[in-house]
Amino acid sequence: MNKTILCIGAGYVGGPTMAMIASKCPDYRVTVVDVNPQRIAAWNSDDLPIYEPGLDDLVRETRGKNLFFSTDVEGAIRDNDIIFVSVNTPTKTFGAGAGMAADLQYWEKTARQILENADSSKIVIEKSTLPVKTALAMERILNSQANGISFDVLSNPEFLAEGSAIRDLENPDRVLIGSRETDRGRQARNAILEIYARWIPRERILTTNIWSSELSKLVANAFLAQRISSINTISALCEKTEADVAEVARAVGMDSRIGAKFLNASVGFGGSCFKKDILNLVYLCRFYGLEEVADYWERVVGINIYQQERFIMSMLTAMFNTLAGKRICLLGFAFKANTGDTRESPAIFIARRLAEEHAEVVISDPKALGNARLDLAKIDGAFHYIEDPYEAAKGCHALAIMTEWDIYRSLDYEKIYEKMDKPAFIFDGRNILDHKRCFQIGFNVYPIGKPPLTQFEV
Ligand code: NAD
Ligand code: UGA
Repeated sequence: MNKTILCIGAGYVGGPTMAMIASKCPDYRVTVVDVNPQRIAAWNSDDLPIYEPGLDDLVRETRGKNLFFSTDVEGAIRDNDIIFVSVNTPTKTFGAGAGMAADLQYWEKTARQILENADSSKIVIEKSTLPVKTALAMERILNSQANGISFDVLSNPEFLAEGSAIRDLENPDRVLIGSRETDRGRQARNAILEIYARWIPRERILTTNIWSSELSKLVANAFLAQRISSINTISALCEKTEADVAEVARAVGMDSRIGAKFLNASVGFGGSCFKKDILNLVYLCRFYGLEEVADYWERVVGINIYQQERFIMSMLTAMFNTLAGKRICLLGFAFKANTGDTRESPAIFIARRLAEEHAEVVISDPKALGNARLDLAKIDGAFHYIEDPYEAAKGCHALAIMTEWDIYRSLDYEKIYEKMDKPAFIFDGRNILDHKRCFQIGFNVYPIGKPPLTQFEV
């Protein structure tokens, strides 16, 4: 087999993952294709379509040598026998399962494109996150024509997190490869295993049956999101009882059976995947008649909405029960730090709700203002976009920290306070500021899951 690899879908997963493979396997020729010509043009330019620390260097090192970006999907299918498919699988917005099930139209279109253009046998690898049993549908489509060409379908879900994608790809906790337990399945699995084994210790490359692999990806995201929703419910109780959620999280997380990660209470989780993957899991459970299981996981998403609404209600009640005409600065719009991605960012929810309360919203973010503009384009409201946080805060009644960007930890809050309307408020949706210091400056400070520090008699 030629040492060539194709990835269909040049998004947040396809681009960085293939850049890492190209870097670690210089003897492989890696091609990434996409139907979106602007995206491919950006991958071929100095202004990559996504912001991810370390990505520019990796692409610079490999592009034009053994990493290529192209719009020629059909030609690339003919030229490559190992095909990763990393197209988007968003939540369905129409018909049966709308708002819950995964929309598999892009996925199925890719399967049909592979079938139409293949003139030799292929290994097709599910990189996208998919409902369990999707590989069966893929196999049925691919093997629907008796043309002598064989297709082996594998599952190799991606676990990288945005903002740390390059680190995660270089040093993953595990790589998961699911395959059929047949001679051909094992052979296909070995071809992929050989690629990852170039830089990942063998004991961290996990091989399972194909359905376990598909399901494990949904379950990993569901468990991660569940931890955040769990600590967020406790943040609500802390606010009623003068307990401090950070202290509780620390005390609980030091139990090695529980672990310390993913216990930061926040305004809520965002990102393109947690909500969609849990809803997909919920849909699957209902499909199989497991109503109780579905209800259990659905609450994880319900609590995330509750937490965002709680944040708005805390702003409203603290600011004398009206936000109308008040100018409120959102510091951060990305769904997390170190990315420009705003998909499902809690900031979108908060901005929309503030607009509904007739507040004027100033949005600041070092990397996400372009996406913020697109997200809010269809929402009625007074939105301003100002990158410089000092300028953004000028004349505002309140600051709300939406993203845990490092720069927000070290701003000169005294200078900011002077430029704001008084009384001035801070709502720290990420618990990243020095709350006592902000209170001493004169702010009324509302963290998540900790007693507020207010300048007024309560
Ligand atoms: P994305 O939207 O950034 O990228 C998907 C790309 O696929 C788009 O550029 C789109 O134009 C392209 N595409 C769609 N149909 C195509 C076709 N028929 N031919 C060629 N290109 C096509 O999505 P993403 O964030 O990279 O996610 C991709 C998959 O990986 C999803 O299933 C997601 O759940 C999963 N995932 C994402 C992340 C993440 O951090 N974003 C992490 C792990 C897994
Ligand atoms: C998540 C998973 O962590 C990845 O393993 C997975 O591959 C990916 O989803 C995916 O399938 O798309 P990502 O969404 O990029 O990655 O980022 P996370 O670090 O998981 O953060 C998700 C959200 O949870 C962010 O809004 C973050 O701010 C929030 N969060 C995270 C908290 O509110 N508290 C925490 O303790 C941790």
